Amino acid sequence: MIIAQLTDTHILESKTESQSAAEQRISDLKRCILDIKNLPAKPDVVIHTGDIAHTADRKEYQVALELLKILETPVFVVPGNRDSRSNIRQVFSCSNYITGNRSEPIIYAINNFEVRLIGVDSISPGSNKGYFCPEHLSTLDRLLSSFPEKPTAIFMHHPPIPIETGETNRVEFITKEAGDEFVSMILKHKQVIRVFCGHSHRAYLEKVGKIEFSTVPSIASDLRLGKYPERMEGVPVYQIHEFNPSSNFVSHTRLLV
Ligand SMILES: [Fe+2]
Repeated sequence: MIIAQLTDTHILESKTESQSAAEQRISDLKRCILDIKNLPAKPDVVIHTGDIAHTADRKEYQVALELLKILETPVFVVPGNRDSRSNIRQVFSCSNYITGNRSEPIIYAINNFEVRLIGVDSISPGSNKGYFCPEHLSTLDRLLSSFPEKPTAIFMHHPPIPIETGETNRVEFITKEAGDEFVSMILKHKQVIRVFCGHSHRAYLEKVGKIEFSTVPSIASDLRLGKYPERMEGVPVYQIHEFNPSSNFVSHTRLLV
């Protein structure tokens, strides 16, 4: 099974901010989509780990959706702190996998691939940090308990572990304890092998127990964090994750130079 992960596209309605940033971000996403379409081994699914839009304007989601449709591959999205649950529900309703009421946290499972995928909302209204209220965490716990045998990957916007790069040690949940509580809960479920995240706008990978947690640089190249050579400016980056039952996921970074 092959997964392409896109994240933090921050699609911008050009009237709201800079025209050049708006054009750059659309171009960055389009380049990734065309690259995915031309891969020799086509991904089975594409996941988007949030911050699809920059201002959560409905038009930004419509632009993103029209571009993602070019893929002709199933695309699954989760919201980031910049996103609107309600606009995602409305604009992506054609895909049918996101259910629930407008303001409820989004959570769903995709069971028909070699690895079970669970997309889950980590938004904390009023904060740009991640959070799971007790009810939402229990829903995820039950969803994991319902299918204990199949290898499972979770994808969500906020990494629940601190991102330590030597320069920064960023806790991306509202508190470190809230992140620890999430990690402790999923560690109880032996089938969970990977948590794919966005939000940090940089690449990161860490293993806690038997679970790997990873983040991918923002597709929006003007917002990317971390150190890159000068020639990487304006170069979109995304990742491919290939599942192999003996080695779990092997990840490759695609640099669109
Ligand atoms: Fe972001």
